[in-house]
Amino acid sequence: MLNKKTIEDIDVKGKKVLVRCDFNVPLDREDKSVITDDRRITEALPTIKYLMEHGGRVILCSHIGKTKDKQSLAPVAKRLSELLNREVPFASDVIGEDAKAKADSLNDGDVMLLENVRLHPEEEANDPAFAKELASLAEVYVNDAFGTAHRAHASTAGVADYLPAVCGYLIQKEIGVMGDALNNPQRPFLAILGGAKVSSKIGVIENLLDKVDGLMIGGGMAYTFAKAQGGRIGKSLCEEDKLDLALSILKKAEEKGVKVYFPVDTICAEEIKADAETCVCPTNDIPDNLEGLDIGPESVKAFVDAIKEYKTIIWNGPVGYSELDIFANGTISVAKALAENKDAITIIGGGDSAAAVEKFGLSKEMTHVSTGGGASLEFMEGKVLPGIACLLDK
Ligand code: 3PG
Repeated sequence: MLNKKTIEDIDVKGKKVLVRCDFNVPLDREDKSVITDDRRITEALPTIKYLMEHGGRVILCSHIGKTKDKQSLAPVAKRLSELLNREVPFASDVIGEDAKAKADSLNDGDVMLLENVRLHPEEEANDPAFAKELASLAEVYVNDAFGTAHRAHASTAGVADYLPAVCGYLIQKEIGVMGDALNNPQRPFLAILGGAKVSSKIGVIENLLDKVDGLMIGGGMAYTFAKAQGGRIGKSLCEEDKLDLALSILKKAEEKGVKVYFPVDTICAEEIKADAETCVCPTNDIPDNLEGLDIGPESVKAFVDAIKEYKTIIWNGPVGYSELDIFANGTISVAKALAENKDAITIIGGGDSAAAVEKFGLSKEMTHVSTGGGASLEFMEGKVLPGIACLLDK
């Protein structure tokens, strides 16, 4: 349960409301005016519509890309106008004259969007003067940017020093579903962790080992575990300095009675390319010229069978190099198995696994697909998210 005030706890009628969204949406590589996945925009609509319907004068803000990219939010203004079926005025700056003039001319129920907050380096530095200037545009602050809640930036946390600050529906939903699963899961509870590195998942693994009944390990990090146990892993990804850590994770899992599922076989290739020649090898006996890039057929079967047994499943990180179709079978099979387990609460912890589930058209089959990548990872690590900690308590 999220113990923070929400948009329903405040009166917004006639007030200018600064709403921080995470509109950091993927853009087409060739044509940066084309949004390739608008889910982060559609997921923000319930909060935006509530504030408009309750007479708020809604000033939306967000980042897109990194500060160095200097990317405009103009494509988002266009998409928002289409989704809301009305023109959403777009300010050409963040705290400049255009932003102030457009904010001042809002009527009750109107909405506008500011330019990318990261055009100011002060945003990521959480500069108090910048936060104060941004806050001065409005009378109330709403944070609904779950995907950026792990960042203590000016628009995600700093502004809360100058305005009454509450959360929107998306943050409520994300924390509600993931918090319930972590703290009060239907058992048995399984975590599926993939991705390239043990080091980026160590916090999650350590936090989840205290909570789950099963832990499935896939992706590049599986080879660090294989090597740690004496396996031969060829050219596969390996973090040499994490071998002891991998062993201590396995020991801790055993002590806690957590069942660990490890890929027994692996799809290997000499190179990562779309038309690579592939073969299947035992995960602990990969020839020196080959690299493990996906879980093999025996592992797929074992993983899929095991997934059927669980009632709460959290998944973070693809189990293979799923960007290329020839190494995507493991990830597709895991996604399908989750989609088919209708008795379970299935949660996709954002980032690459959310993108994979979306690509396979299975998002709607899951209980929840998080809009956060780094944010959902840090939430699963049990960390305090600054964008949520700064909000008013109930
Ligand atoms: C994300 O895509 O994870 C969020 O929008 C945060 O972006 P960042 O990693 O650039 O801070």
